[in-house]
Amino acid sequence: MSEADPAAKPQRPFDRIGGREPIARMVDRFYDLMDSEPDFAELRAMHGPDLAPMREALTDFLIAWMGGPRDWFEKHPGACVMSAHRAMPGMNYAVATQWVVAMQQAAKETIPADPDFVDSMVSAFAGMSKSMAANAGQADNH
Ligand code: HEM
Repeated sequence: MSEADPAAKPQRPFDRIGGREPIARMVDRFYDLMDSEPDFAELRAMHGPDLAPMREALTDFLIAWMGGPRDWFEKHPGACVMSAHRAMPGMNYAVATQWVVAMQQAAKETIPADPDFVDSMVSAFAGMSKSMAANAGQADNH
């Protein structure tokens, strides 16, 4: 058994996943699935016709959420993803489940080498999505 180096910093999820590229690939696959699979039609209908801005926005958000560069938060000072989603028209458990299922499939396909990481990330997304749906329709405040 080796002793942990007390000076070592805990590894950021951003480093464990391998930086920006794997996150961008996962997000691209997520929106490709949403755009093509009938099971995700209700979720797709909540989005605008052009998904390109969302591909960039969700990638930037997840990079920051995983401890990487914080460009998304710098572009959206004071923004709260949770309260913005609760206030979205059409938010409910059905679309929340579609979001998690699509993201789980995208993550499994694009990060096949690290299933433990995928499981903990998807669990976190499931908790967030459930809370977004549970509090749907509430005013956009904290
Ligand atoms: C409950 C399931 C979810 C639904 C139905 C949903 C729906 C949406 C929709 C419709 C948009 C586009 C809004 C627009 O056109 O401006 C969007 C954007 C976004 N969503 Fe979600 N979402 C869900 C879960 C999540 C989760 C769990 C996260 C974070 C891990 C997330 C992060 C984002 C981000 C960062 C954007 C882009 C915001 C921006 O920069 O403009 N969403 N979502």
